[in-house]
Amino acid sequence: MPQSSDSLVLFGATGDLCFRKIYPALYHLVERRRLEVPVIGVSRAGWTSEQFAGRVRESLAKFVPQASEQGVRRLVELLRYVDGDYRESATFQALRKCLGEAARPLHYLAIPPSVFPGVVTLLGSSGCARGARVVVEKPFGRDLASAFALNHTLHQVFDESAIFRIDHYLGKEPVQNLLYFRFANSFLEPVWNRNFVASVQITMAEKIGVAGRGRFYEEAGAIRDVIQNHLLQIVAFLAMEPPVRFARDALRDEKVKVFRAIRPLVPARIVRGQFEGYRQEPGVAPDSRVETFAAARLQIDSWRWSGVPFYIRAGKCMPVTATEVVVDLRAPPADVFGALAPEQPNYFRFRVGPDVAIALGAHAKQPGPAMQGRQVELFVSQHQGEEMDAYERLIGDAMIGDAVLFAREDEVEAAWAVVDPVLRAQTPVYEYRQGSWGPPEAEALIVEGPCSWHNPGEDAHSWTRACGRTG
Ligand code: BG6
Repeated sequence: MPQSSDSLVLFGATGDLCFRKIYPALYHLVERRRLEVPVIGVSRAGWTSEQFAGRVRESLAKFVPQASEQGVRRLVELLRYVDGDYRESATFQALRKCLGEAARPLHYLAIPPSVFPGVVTLLGSSGCARGARVVVEKPFGRDLASAFALNHTLHQVFDESAIFRIDHYLGKEPVQNLLYFRFANSFLEPVWNRNFVASVQITMAEKIGVAGRGRFYEEAGAIRDVIQNHLLQIVAFLAMEPPVRFARDALRDEKVKVFRAIRPLVPARIVRGQFEGYRQEPGVAPDSRVETFAAARLQIDSWRWSGVPFYIRAGKCMPVTATEVVVDLRAPPADVFGALAPEQPNYFRFRVGPDVAIALGAHAKQPGPAMQGRQVELFVSQHQGEEMDAYERLIGDAMIGDAVLFAREDEVEAAWAVVDPVLRAQTPVYEYRQGSWGPPEAEALIVEGPCSWHNPGEDAHSWTRACGRTG
């Protein structure tokens, strides 16, 4: 049984991620009595401990307005602060001193990837890494080669079992529900393969643009930012073989197999887009070719999925913020009702963000004299009373050493291998209108089946797509 960490060190403590996501998560952990150890903020901002505590309070006032004063106080009492340059060993000596008797710290690196290597090396030489775990935020590298290099750097100081690579999608309730639904039910398995499934679509749409993160986004683009990680993780949950149990390596072994079975992308199988106005965003080059939208057709060369296209797409400035999966089933073997059958195929639809819903699209008879069909949807949604935020769940898991929801070295590398060939490929970048579903060119990726891309709706019921195409 791994032991719990006895302190939490946050690098990048004055940064945006801590402010928006991590402090609210820490508050909830404190409330659930899952966090009772010192929390040490580290930053190069030149702040005092009081300023740091003030920043944490500000974050809670904004993101957890219902926070109890007692809970806030309990979190603030755990806070310590170390100020200093990440390149200087004096900062790490000060950290070592601040850790005091702590023998199993958890270091959370909420810092830009360019500073990871220096921080990791100094954590090692200062003794701060002894007995420690490390959480590494995405982006984990910029491509396959840099991910290799980063893994190599981390392994100079930390054993793989002590490294927790975060992908916050894996901590989301609806994403976990997808995994649960797949492997806790028996009715799905007989149809969950190439014999019954015609195609799979995943859309991750975001209404927001780059929201002031132009400089960061210029280094990333949609493929690095969300396709290589969040979307491929969803593909893995949909396509993987059953893990023997829900345990660290059992699950990750199966995900790695999926990534290795996906054919590396080629330019003909992706479409890039950029929303109108992106080039005027602060921090963005006036001639930027960075994509804010990407769509791809994946092929998985496995026994289960050979020949079944997986269409994935992600974009900023879309009409809604929602992530949905649609799994289309093949038509029945004989057309008993002829042209009267609806054109929509049978399908499973999973809404995996912002809320949870599972739906099954079927055909039923229209009341009346003719054997006329109509489309019906069996729909289940889940209202989340006790929902845990992804960061709360993942930080809590890392603190107790549970790595099942974190990405392993080989998994991250195999996911990079899928997108690596197109990262630098000079494919066209099509402009699209803000509030649209991206460039129309993405439509041409859909080569099979009667329906176009499915567009998630504002709420879980109101999705749309056009069916009736031939091909
Ligand atoms: C992040 C990306 O990983 O995920 C962002 O860097 C994106 O660009 C975000 O907006 C989406 O996450 P969520 O939790 O808001 O769906």
